[in-house]
Amino acid sequence: MYICLCKDVTDRQLRESIRRGACSFGQVRRHCNLGGKCGKCMGEARLIVQKELMNQGQTSTSACGNR
Ligand code: FES
Repeated sequence: MYICLCKDVTDRQLRESIRRGACSFGQVRRHCNLGGKCGKCMGEARLIVQKELMNQGQTSTSACGNR
């Protein structure tokens, strides 16, 4: 599903960024080139990133920064 229509960023790309080591919303934003135009995506994107980071913390033994 597209989250950022201005930059063609999907929720899958956000989750993949976290799986590849992004530890914060800011890092995901930079990795995916998210936002920066209209800004309408930011609330939804932040929720997805927060949820995914929580899931990673609960299911992964590797802490962020040790990847
Ligand atoms: S929808 Fe993401 S900047 Fe416009």
